[in-house]
Amino acid sequence: MTNDDLSQTLDTSDEWISQRTGIRKRYIASTETTYSMGLAVAQDLLTQSQVAPAALDFIIVATMSPDHLTPSEANRIQGALKANNAYAFSVNVACAGFVYALHLAANLLNGTATCGLVIASETLSRLVDWQDRKTAVLFGDGAGGVLVQRDAQPLPISDLHSFGDNTQQLQVGAGIDSPYFAMDGQAVYQFALREVVASLKRMPPADIYLLHQANARMLQAIARKVHLPLTQVPHNMAEYGNTSAASIPILLHECIADGRITRGQKLLLCGFGGGLAVGSILLTY
Ligand code: ACO
Repeated sequence: MTNDDLSQTLDTSDEWISQRTGIRKRYIASTETTYSMGLAVAQDLLTQSQVAPAALDFIIVATMSPDHLTPSEANRIQGALKANNAYAFSVNVACAGFVYALHLAANLLNGTATCGLVIASETLSRLVDWQDRKTAVLFGDGAGGVLVQRDAQPLPISDLHSFGDNTQQLQVGAGIDSPYFAMDGQAVYQFALREVVASLKRMPPADIYLLHQANARMLQAIARKVHLPLTQVPHNMAEYGNTSAASIPILLHECIADGRITRGQKLLLCGFGGGLAVGSILLTY
């Protein structure tokens, strides 16, 4: 769905959306669900890495847009894969979910697990009020993920922080006044600028910074504040909009596929958003 498509039904324009956010289009699920997209990612990962489903010790799905409250998407994917040795669970930390799930996975691999899937899948289009131009232009649907295996490396360094005193700045769900996204955009923008910069400054340096893809202007401001050239901070929200937890693994996939990320590079992943929450983790590809 392009910005021009949206301006057919909303008082908005391609110019406003692309200047303020860097977003030009987003994918909207038709028959796909959070489960079906997550399962497709899981199957791709197993095929590409030639790992049998029975070798999986765990499956974690990060999502803020589950199809059901229970069973979790992770459980349904485990069943569909016949990954009979895997325990499965979902986590919801909104846009920071993938980084939190990776942090958990790293700790599981540091224990008894040897192999697992970390998937992020979102159908945010079901949570958007399509009459509300303040939020409808921002979000999209998508999924991505990684297969993780134990190696001899020490635990990755991570930096996770929750800000539960600011929950009202970004809410979605039937438990509040509206089932749809309700967001104080400027407050979330200021929060992200402040706390993402602080988190990046606490972390060691990296070769590539994969930040949650919410807003191109915001990423540029963050990069300026931590003195990073934009070549180290790739972005793709022009194509996808904000896909919450899925944005970082989608970007990771694209950067590996087109050679912007190569073996041995240090990657700093940083997710931030609803909760409010921030999470950074440093990985070597
Ligand atoms: N088209 C045209 N005009 C619009 C639109 C639109 N789609 N949306 C808002 N406007 C208008 C507003 O009504 C306002 O008009 P007014 O001055 O007459 O009242 C004007 O544009 C400015 O609105 P602001 O909200 O001040 O715009 P701002 O520059 O702050 O940009 C935005 C809004 C893009 C949402 C920005 O605040 C932002 O990106 N915030 C961060 C959001 C975010 O990153 N969330 C990430 C977490 S998401 C998660 O965790 C799921």
